[in-house]
Amino acid sequence: MRIDSRLGKELLYLSYYDVASAGLGMAEIIAALEGMFREKGEGRVEMPPKIGIHTMPDAFIHAMPASIPGQKAAGMKWVGGFPENSNRGLPYITGLLILNDPETGVPVALMDCTWITAERTGAATALAAKYLARAESTSVGVLGCGVQGRSNLGALKVLFPLKKAYAYDKHADRAVRYAEEMSGQLGIEVVPVSDPKQAVVASDIVVTAGPILRTPHATIERGWLQEGAFASLVDFDSYWHPRALHEVDKFCTDDVPQLRHYRDLGYFQDIPAIHADLGELVTGRKAGREKPEERTIACNLGLALDDIAVAPLICERALEKGIGTWLPL
Ligand SMILES: NC(=O)c1ccc[n+]([C@@H]2O[C@H](COP(=O)([O-])OP(=O)(O)OC[C@H]3O[C@@H](n4cnc5c(N)ncnc54)[C@H](O)[C@@H]3O)[C@@H](O)[C@H]2O)c1
Repeated sequence: MRIDSRLGKELLYLSYYDVASAGLGMAEIIAALEGMFREKGEGRVEMPPKIGIHTMPDAFIHAMPASIPGQKAAGMKWVGGFPENSNRGLPYITGLLILNDPETGVPVALMDCTWITAERTGAATALAAKYLARAESTSVGVLGCGVQGRSNLGALKVLFPLKKAYAYDKHADRAVRYAEEMSGQLGIEVVPVSDPKQAVVASDIVVTAGPILRTPHATIERGWLQEGAFASLVDFDSYWHPRALHEVDKFCTDDVPQLRHYRDLGYFQDIPAIHADLGELVTGRKAGREKPEERTIACNLGLALDDIAVAPLICERALEKGIGTWLPL
Protein backbone atom coordinates (compact mmCIF):
# COMPACT_ATOMS: atom_id res chain seq x y z
CA MET A 1 0.00 0.00 0.00
CA ARG A 2 1.65 3.29 -1.13
CA ILE A 3 0.71 6.47 0.69
CA ASP A 4 4.31 7.61 1.38
CA SER A 5 3.83 11.37 1.16
CA ARG A 6 0.97 11.27 3.68
CA LEU A 7 2.61 8.81 6.11
CA GLY A 8 2.43 10.13 9.67
CA LYS A 9 0.31 13.12 8.65
CA GLU A 10 -2.99 11.64 7.55
CA LEU A 11 -4.83 8.34 7.44
CA LEU A 12 -7.32 7.00 4.95
CA TYR A 13 -10.81 6.40 6.42
CA LEU A 14 -12.99 3.88 4.59
CA SER A 15 -16.67 3.52 5.54
CA TYR A 16 -18.62 0.29 5.00
CA TYR A 17 -19.75 1.63 1.65
CA ASP A 18 -16.18 2.63 0.68
CA VAL A 19 -14.85 -0.82 1.59
CA ALA A 20 -17.58 -2.61 -0.35
CA SER A 21 -17.22 -0.34 -3.39
CA ALA A 22 -13.45 -0.87 -3.54
CA GLY A 23 -14.62 -3.95 -5.44
CA LEU A 24 -12.26 -6.66 -4.19
CA GLY A 25 -13.47 -9.98 -5.61
CA MET A 26 -13.98 -13.21 -3.67
CA ALA A 27 -11.41 -15.08 -5.80
CA GLU A 28 -8.79 -12.46 -4.80
CA ILE A 29 -9.74 -12.78 -1.12
CA ILE A 30 -9.44 -16.58 -1.22
CA ALA A 31 -6.02 -16.23 -2.89
CA ALA A 32 -4.87 -13.71 -0.25
CA LEU A 33 -5.90 -16.10 2.52
CA GLU A 34 -4.14 -19.02 0.85
CA GLY A 35 -0.93 -16.96 0.66
CA MET A 36 -1.33 -15.94 4.29
CA PHE A 37 -1.94 -19.53 5.47
CA ARG A 38 1.21 -20.58 3.59
CA GLU A 39 3.14 -17.95 5.57
CA LYS A 40 1.44 -19.13 8.78
CA GLY A 41 2.26 -22.76 7.99
CA GLU A 42 5.91 -21.74 7.53
CA GLY A 43 5.88 -19.96 10.90
CA ARG A 44 6.42 -16.49 9.43
CA VAL A 45 3.49 -14.61 10.99
CA GLU A 46 2.68 -13.13 14.39
CA MET A 47 -0.77 -13.35 15.97
CA PRO A 48 -1.46 -13.46 19.71
CA PRO A 49 -4.78 -15.12 20.71
CA LYS A 50 -7.76 -12.75 20.72
CA ILE A 51 -8.41 -10.85 23.90
CA GLY A 52 -11.80 -9.34 24.58
CA ILE A 53 -14.44 -7.81 26.77
CA HIS A 54 -17.96 -9.17 27.26
CA THR A 55 -20.60 -6.56 28.03
CA MET A 56 -23.68 -8.75 27.40
CA PRO A 57 -24.40 -12.50 27.60
CA ASP A 58 -23.00 -14.44 24.58
CA ALA A 59 -21.59 -11.15 23.22
CA PHE A 60 -17.99 -10.09 22.67
CA ILE A 61 -15.78 -7.20 21.61
CA HIS A 62 -12.42 -8.65 20.54
CA ALA A 63 -9.01 -7.11 19.85
CA MET A 64 -7.39 -8.97 16.95
CA PRO A 65 -3.83 -7.88 16.05
CA ALA A 66 -1.68 -9.60 13.41
CA SER A 67 1.47 -9.16 11.34
CA ILE A 68 2.25 -10.88 8.03
CA PRO A 69 5.74 -9.66 7.00
CA GLY A 70 5.60 -11.58 3.69
CA GLN A 71 2.52 -9.58 2.69
CA LYS A 72 3.81 -6.30 4.26
CA ALA A 73 0.65 -6.30 6.37
CA ALA A 74 0.19 -5.30 10.01
CA GLY A 75 -2.76 -4.05 12.02
CA MET A 76 -5.65 -4.82 14.33
CA LYS A 77 -9.37 -5.43 14.14
CA TRP A 78 -11.63 -4.31 17.04
CA VAL A 79 -14.83 -6.22 16.42
CA GLY A 80 -18.08 -6.81 18.31
CA GLY A 81 -20.55 -9.70 17.95
CA PHE A 82 -23.91 -9.19 19.67
CA PRO A 83 -26.58 -11.88 19.14
CA GLU A 84 -29.48 -9.58 20.16
CA ASN A 85 -28.55 -6.86 17.64
CA SER A 86 -30.83 -8.19 14.91
CA ASN A 87 -33.84 -7.42 17.16
CA ARG A 88 -32.67 -3.77 17.08
CA GLY A 89 -32.14 -3.68 13.34
CA LEU A 90 -28.35 -3.71 13.81
CA PRO A 91 -25.81 -6.16 12.35
CA TYR A 92 -24.57 -9.03 14.54
CA ILE A 93 -20.97 -8.05 13.70
CA THR A 94 -19.73 -4.44 13.80
CA GLY A 95 -16.31 -2.86 14.27
CA LEU A 96 -13.24 -1.12 12.94
CA LEU A 97 -9.89 -2.19 11.55
CA ILE A 98 -6.65 -0.18 11.81
CA LEU A 99 -3.85 -0.84 9.33
CA ASN A 100 -0.33 0.14 10.39
CA ASP A 101 2.77 0.74 8.30
CA PRO A 102 4.92 -2.32 9.22
CA GLU A 103 8.19 -0.33 9.04
CA THR A 104 7.23 2.63 11.24
CA GLY A 105 4.12 1.45 13.10
CA VAL A 106 2.27 4.57 11.94
CA PRO A 107 -1.49 4.04 11.37
CA VAL A 108 -2.19 4.44 7.65
CA ALA A 109 -5.84 3.46 7.35
CA LEU A 110 -8.98 2.99 9.42
CA MET A 111 -11.90 1.09 7.97
CA ASP A 112 -15.27 -0.39 8.87
CA CYS A 113 -14.67 -4.13 9.32
CA THR A 114 -18.14 -5.54 8.67
CA TRP A 115 -17.62 -6.27 4.98
CA ILE A 116 -14.14 -7.70 5.49
CA THR A 117 -15.37 -9.98 8.31
CA ALA A 118 -18.16 -11.35 6.17
CA GLU A 119 -16.02 -11.90 3.10
CA ARG A 120 -12.88 -13.31 4.69
CA THR A 121 -14.93 -15.80 6.74
CA GLY A 122 -16.62 -17.08 3.59
CA ALA A 123 -13.22 -17.22 1.91
CA ALA A 124 -11.77 -19.26 4.80
CA THR A 125 -14.61 -21.77 4.40
CA ALA A 126 -13.95 -22.04 0.67
CA LEU A 127 -10.20 -22.41 1.23
CA ALA A 128 -10.73 -25.17 3.80
CA ALA A 129 -13.17 -26.84 1.41
CA LYS A 130 -10.54 -26.76 -1.34
CA TYR A 131 -8.44 -29.14 0.79
CA LEU A 132 -11.18 -31.04 2.62
CA ALA A 133 -14.29 -31.28 0.37
CA ARG A 134 -14.77 -33.40 -2.72
CA ALA A 135 -13.84 -31.27 -5.75
CA GLU A 136 -17.04 -32.37 -7.50
CA SER A 137 -19.31 -31.16 -4.64
CA THR A 138 -22.48 -29.67 -6.12
CA SER A 139 -24.83 -29.15 -3.15
CA VAL A 140 -24.58 -26.95 -0.05
CA GLY A 141 -26.75 -26.90 3.08
CA VAL A 142 -26.78 -23.52 4.83
CA LEU A 143 -28.08 -23.32 8.40
CA GLY A 144 -28.38 -19.69 9.43
CA CYS A 145 -29.29 -17.46 6.49
CA GLY A 146 -27.67 -14.20 7.56
CA VAL A 147 -24.51 -12.37 6.53
CA GLN A 148 -22.29 -15.45 6.86
CA GLY A 149 -24.81 -17.71 5.16
CA ARG A 150 -24.57 -15.38 2.17
CA SER A 151 -20.80 -14.87 2.00
CA ASN A 152 -20.02 -18.55 2.61
CA LEU A 153 -22.26 -19.74 -0.22
CA GLY A 154 -20.84 -17.04 -2.52
CA ALA A 155 -17.27 -18.08 -1.72
CA LEU A 156 -17.99 -21.79 -2.23
CA LYS A 157 -19.49 -20.96 -5.64
CA VAL A 158 -16.09 -19.56 -6.69
CA LEU A 159 -14.34 -22.91 -6.19
CA PHE A 160 -17.03 -25.59 -6.66
CA PRO A 161 -19.46 -26.52 -9.46
CA LEU A 162 -22.50 -25.80 -7.28
CA LYS A 163 -25.96 -26.55 -8.60
CA LYS A 164 -28.22 -26.55 -5.55
CA ALA A 165 -28.36 -25.16 -2.02
CA TYR A 166 -30.76 -25.88 0.84
CA ALA A 167 -31.42 -22.97 3.19
CA TYR A 168 -32.64 -23.33 6.78
CA ASP A 169 -33.13 -20.49 9.25
CA LYS A 170 -34.84 -20.42 12.63
CA HIS A 171 -36.92 -17.59 11.11
CA ALA A 172 -38.56 -19.22 8.08
CA ASP A 173 -39.09 -15.88 6.29
CA ARG A 174 -35.32 -15.23 6.34
CA ALA A 175 -34.67 -18.57 4.60
CA VAL A 176 -37.23 -17.67 1.92
CA ARG A 177 -35.69 -14.23 1.36
CA TYR A 178 -32.21 -15.78 1.28
CA ALA A 179 -33.28 -18.36 -1.31
CA GLU A 180 -34.70 -15.70 -3.63
CA GLU A 181 -31.70 -13.43 -3.27
CA MET A 182 -28.95 -16.06 -3.55
CA SER A 183 -30.48 -17.98 -6.45
CA GLY A 184 -30.66 -14.69 -8.39
CA GLN A 185 -27.14 -13.69 -7.43
CA LEU A 186 -25.36 -17.02 -8.00
CA GLY A 187 -27.51 -18.58 -10.71
CA ILE A 188 -28.08 -21.83 -8.79
CA GLU A 189 -31.23 -23.37 -7.34
CA VAL A 190 -31.68 -22.39 -3.67
CA VAL A 191 -34.49 -24.13 -1.79
CA PRO A 192 -35.76 -22.98 1.62
CA VAL A 193 -36.37 -25.94 3.97
CA SER A 194 -38.30 -26.09 7.23
CA ASP A 195 -36.19 -28.68 9.04
CA PRO A 196 -32.40 -28.36 9.58
CA LYS A 197 -31.97 -32.10 8.93
CA GLN A 198 -33.18 -31.65 5.34
CA ALA A 199 -30.35 -29.18 4.69
CA VAL A 200 -27.66 -31.45 6.18
CA VAL A 201 -28.54 -34.89 4.81
CA ALA A 202 -28.93 -33.69 1.22
CA SER A 203 -25.65 -31.78 0.96
CA ASP A 204 -22.04 -32.39 -0.10
CA ILE A 205 -21.03 -29.29 1.88
CA VAL A 206 -22.73 -28.00 5.04
CA VAL A 207 -22.25 -24.53 6.56
CA THR A 208 -23.63 -23.81 10.02
CA ALA A 209 -23.82 -20.05 10.66
CA GLY A 210 -26.26 -19.41 13.50
CA PRO A 211 -25.30 -17.81 16.83
CA ILE A 212 -22.18 -18.90 18.71
CA LEU A 213 -23.20 -20.34 22.08
CA ARG A 214 -20.98 -21.47 24.92
CA THR A 215 -23.42 -24.32 25.53
CA PRO A 216 -24.18 -25.82 22.09
CA HIS A 217 -27.82 -26.40 21.11
CA ALA A 218 -26.36 -29.52 19.45
CA THR A 219 -29.15 -29.99 16.90
CA ILE A 220 -27.15 -31.91 14.27
CA GLU A 221 -27.07 -35.58 15.18
CA ARG A 222 -24.82 -38.48 14.26
CA GLY A 223 -25.77 -39.85 10.84
CA TRP A 224 -26.95 -36.52 9.35
CA LEU A 225 -23.62 -35.54 7.71
CA GLN A 226 -23.29 -37.92 4.78
CA GLU A 227 -20.22 -39.99 3.89
CA GLY A 228 -17.96 -37.87 1.68
CA ALA A 229 -19.39 -34.59 2.96
CA PHE A 230 -17.51 -31.58 4.35
CA ALA A 231 -18.85 -29.16 6.95
CA SER A 232 -17.71 -25.65 7.90
CA LEU A 233 -18.59 -24.70 11.48
CA VAL A 234 -18.73 -20.91 11.24
CA ASP A 235 -20.67 -20.83 14.53
CA PHE A 236 -18.13 -23.07 16.30
CA ASP A 237 -19.63 -26.33 17.65
CA SER A 238 -22.96 -24.66 18.57
CA TYR A 239 -24.99 -26.59 16.01
CA TRP A 240 -23.35 -30.00 16.45
CA HIS A 241 -24.00 -32.81 18.90
CA PRO A 242 -20.68 -34.27 20.12
CA ARG A 243 -21.82 -37.65 18.70
CA ALA A 244 -22.00 -36.07 15.24
CA LEU A 245 -18.58 -34.43 15.61
CA HIS A 246 -16.92 -37.65 16.73
CA GLU A 247 -18.25 -39.38 13.61
CA VAL A 248 -15.97 -37.32 11.29
CA ASP A 249 -12.65 -38.60 9.97
CA LYS A 250 -10.78 -35.28 9.98
CA PHE A 251 -11.55 -32.33 12.24
CA CYS A 252 -9.51 -29.26 11.26
CA THR A 253 -9.30 -25.66 12.38
CA ASP A 254 -7.57 -22.45 11.36
CA ASP A 255 -5.42 -22.09 14.48
CA VAL A 256 -4.86 -24.65 17.23
CA PRO A 257 -3.65 -22.31 20.02
CA GLN A 258 -6.73 -20.16 19.50
CA LEU A 259 -9.02 -23.19 19.67
CA ARG A 260 -7.34 -24.22 22.93
CA HIS A 261 -7.83 -20.66 24.20
CA TYR A 262 -11.57 -20.88 23.47
CA ARG A 263 -11.69 -24.29 25.14
CA ASP A 264 -10.24 -22.71 28.29
CA LEU A 265 -13.07 -20.15 28.12
CA GLY A 266 -15.69 -22.92 28.11
CA TYR A 267 -16.30 -23.52 24.39
CA PHE A 268 -15.49 -26.79 22.57
CA GLN A 269 -15.86 -29.03 25.61
CA ASP A 270 -16.40 -32.22 23.57
CA ILE A 271 -14.76 -32.22 20.13
CA PRO A 272 -12.59 -34.76 18.29
CA ALA A 273 -8.78 -34.60 18.16
CA ILE A 274 -7.58 -31.92 15.75
CA HIS A 275 -6.16 -33.38 12.54
CA ALA A 276 -4.57 -30.22 11.11
CA ASP A 277 -4.74 -26.46 10.91
CA LEU A 278 -5.18 -24.64 7.61
CA GLY A 279 -1.49 -23.66 7.48
CA GLU A 280 -0.56 -27.36 7.63
CA LEU A 281 -3.08 -28.21 4.90
CA VAL A 282 -1.95 -25.39 2.57
CA THR A 283 1.77 -26.18 2.96
CA GLY A 284 1.13 -29.92 2.56
CA ARG A 285 2.55 -30.76 5.99
CA LYS A 286 -0.69 -32.62 6.74
CA ALA A 287 -2.98 -34.36 4.27
CA GLY A 288 -6.37 -32.95 3.42
CA ARG A 289 -9.05 -35.28 2.04
CA GLU A 290 -7.55 -38.64 1.06
CA LYS A 291 -10.64 -40.76 0.34
CA PRO A 292 -13.99 -39.90 -1.29
CA GLU A 293 -15.97 -41.35 1.62
CA GLU A 294 -14.27 -39.35 4.40
CA ARG A 295 -16.37 -36.98 6.48
CA THR A 296 -14.38 -33.80 7.10
CA ILE A 297 -14.88 -30.65 9.16
CA ALA A 298 -13.22 -27.24 9.34
CA CYS A 299 -14.00 -25.22 12.40
CA ASN A 300 -12.43 -21.89 11.52
CA LEU A 301 -12.53 -19.55 14.46
CA GLY A 302 -11.74 -16.49 12.36
CA LEU A 303 -8.25 -15.08 12.66
CA ALA A 304 -6.82 -11.58 12.81
CA LEU A 305 -4.50 -12.89 10.07
CA ASP A 306 -7.52 -13.29 7.74
CA ASP A 307 -8.45 -9.64 8.16
CA ILE A 308 -4.94 -8.28 7.96
CA ALA A 309 -4.24 -10.32 4.80
CA VAL A 310 -7.21 -8.70 3.05
CA ALA A 311 -7.26 -5.12 4.39
CA PRO A 312 -4.16 -3.88 2.47
CA LEU A 313 -5.72 -5.09 -0.78
CA ILE A 314 -8.86 -3.08 -0.04
CA CYS A 315 -6.73 0.00 0.70
CA GLU A 316 -4.75 -0.40 -2.51
CA ARG A 317 -7.92 -0.72 -4.55
CA ALA A 318 -9.49 2.27 -2.76
CA LEU A 319 -6.38 4.37 -3.46
CA GLU A 320 -6.44 3.39 -7.13
CA LYS A 321 -10.10 4.37 -7.38
CA GLY A 322 -9.83 7.52 -5.24
CA ILE A 323 -12.27 6.13 -2.67
CA GLY A 324 -12.27 7.21 1.00
CA THR A 325 -11.74 10.24 3.21
CA TRP A 326 -8.34 11.51 4.37
CA LEU A 327 -8.28 12.43 8.05
CA PRO A 328 -5.52 14.33 9.88
CA LEU A 329 -3.54 12.32 12.44
N1 LIG B 1 -15.83 -18.23 12.65
C1 LIG B 1 -15.71 -17.02 12.16
O1 LIG B 1 -14.69 -16.63 11.62
C2 LIG B 1 -16.86 -16.09 12.23
C3 LIG B 1 -16.75 -14.81 11.66
C4 LIG B 1 -17.86 -13.98 11.69
C5 LIG B 1 -19.04 -14.42 12.27
N2 LIG B 1 -19.07 -15.64 12.85
C6 LIG B 1 -20.29 -16.14 13.47
O2 LIG B 1 -21.19 -16.51 12.44
C7 LIG B 1 -22.51 -16.48 12.96
C8 LIG B 1 -23.43 -15.77 11.99
O3 LIG B 1 -23.05 -14.41 11.87
P1 LIG B 1 -23.83 -13.45 10.89
O4 LIG B 1 -23.05 -12.18 10.80
O5 LIG B 1 -24.17 -14.19 9.66
O6 LIG B 1 -25.17 -13.20 11.74
P2 LIG B 1 -26.61 -12.82 11.19
O7 LIG B 1 -27.35 -12.25 12.34
O8 LIG B 1 -26.49 -12.00 9.95
O9 LIG B 1 -27.24 -14.22 10.77
C9 LIG B 1 -27.53 -15.23 11.69
C10 LIG B 1 -28.76 -15.97 11.17
O10 LIG B 1 -28.93 -17.16 11.95
C11 LIG B 1 -30.32 -17.32 12.18
N3 LIG B 1 -30.46 -18.24 13.32
C12 LIG B 1 -30.47 -17.98 14.64
N4 LIG B 1 -30.55 -19.14 15.36
C13 LIG B 1 -30.60 -20.14 14.44
C14 LIG B 1 -30.69 -21.54 14.51
N5 LIG B 1 -30.72 -22.17 15.66
N6 LIG B 1 -30.74 -22.23 13.35
C15 LIG B 1 -30.70 -21.61 12.15
N7 LIG B 1 -30.61 -20.29 12.02
C16 LIG B 1 -30.55 -19.57 13.15
C17 LIG B 1 -30.85 -15.92 12.37
O11 LIG B 1 -32.26 -15.88 12.16
C18 LIG B 1 -30.06 -15.18 11.30
O12 LIG B 1 -30.72 -15.19 10.06
C19 LIG B 1 -22.39 -15.80 14.31
O13 LIG B 1 -22.42 -16.80 15.30
C20 LIG B 1 -21.04 -15.13 14.28
O14 LIG B 1 -20.47 -14.97 15.56
C21 LIG B 1 -18.03 -16.48 12.82
